[in-house]
Amino acid sequence: MTGISTIHSPERATNHLQAMPAPSPALNVARQAMLIPPEPTLTPQSYTFLANLVYERSRIRLGPDRQPLVTGRLAQRLRSLGIGSFEEYCGLLESPSGIEEIGALIDLISTNHTQFFREAAHYEILARHVLPGLAKRRGRDWRPLQIWSAAASSGEEAYSLAIVLAEYCRTQPAFSWQVHASDISQRMLDRCRAGIYEADKVKLPDDGLLHRYFQRGFGHREGCYRIKPELRQHVLVEHINLFQPTYPLPGEQDVIFCRNVMIYFDPESRQELIDRLTGMLAPGGCLFVGHAESLLGMRHKLRAAWPSVYVRPE
Ligand SMILES: C[S@@+](CC[C@H](N)C(=O)[O-])C[C@H]1O[C@@H](n2cnc3c(N)ncnc32)[C@H](O)[C@@H]1O
Repeated sequence: MTGISTIHSPERATNHLQAMPAPSPALNVARQAMLIPPEPTLTPQSYTFLANLVYERSRIRLGPDRQPLVTGRLAQRLRSLGIGSFEEYCGLLESPSGIEEIGALIDLISTNHTQFFREAAHYEILARHVLPGLAKRRGRDWRPLQIWSAAASSGEEAYSLAIVLAEYCRTQPAFSWQVHASDISQRMLDRCRAGIYEADKVKLPDDGLLHRYFQRGFGHREGCYRIKPELRQHVLVEHINLFQPTYPLPGEQDVIFCRNVMIYFDPESRQELIDRLTGMLAPGGCLFVGHAESLLGMRHKLRAAWPSVYVRPE
């Protein structure tokens, strides 16, 4: 498995989270002067409770160094819920009515950074090597080619995949295909469903793609682009926690993109995830992981074919 970079530690991985500084004493004095209540304090007990809950529900590992970040991100949430302390917030999460709030908590804690054609080499490999191979092997198979963006965030990865598929089918004998976009974050999936992106975030490898697959927004959507319905209809959006007991997807996926999410999991969870994803791949199907991730040191039955791309043997 040469040419494959090693996985970052979760600590390093979370470094690109935007840490929010803890409020300074001067700020607290100013707050008192303005009769604004001080930021609630997150005790070690409450932090442990929150970190355990986040891990149990998502396998995202929050180390002790993440405490300032968690405090910053949740302080605003507490304010908007009218809750004065973290103890009270933990009580809400434990209560029967706390189920929805657990989703909001994970939303606030998770890192959703993504972009169109991120780690562009993967899309080249898909277009030049993987799709021609899959197309040749398909023969008269009528089953739509299945592609899964398994931690899709706001959808840029799933639509980049859809663009590659649509472009391939413009120039080669066409076949039917669908992309499944899934994530644990409902908030991100809502954005994915809408398919509307700020113009300066839509950076594509070729200018022609913008015209072909995006509509320019006008009126209150000025400065945005929307994915054209012809492309959007190929992308099916599902809420999936990668650790839920079963996945509501066709069992034979030809291509799985599961990128830049394993870095947030501990080694046992990564191993479990790779076993599950391997089981979801069709024979000859490909798993793409992030460039900063690799399966080095893990037990698996896949063949390393390109950097951070693995094939399930037939
Ligand atoms: C950094 S983004 C990666 C987006 C995209 N794959 C990319 O590489 O650009 C990580 C995503 O993983 C999602 N995520 C974290 N834990 C998850 C879990 N247990 N199940 C499903 N998605 C999860 C987060 O909500 C977030 O949207």
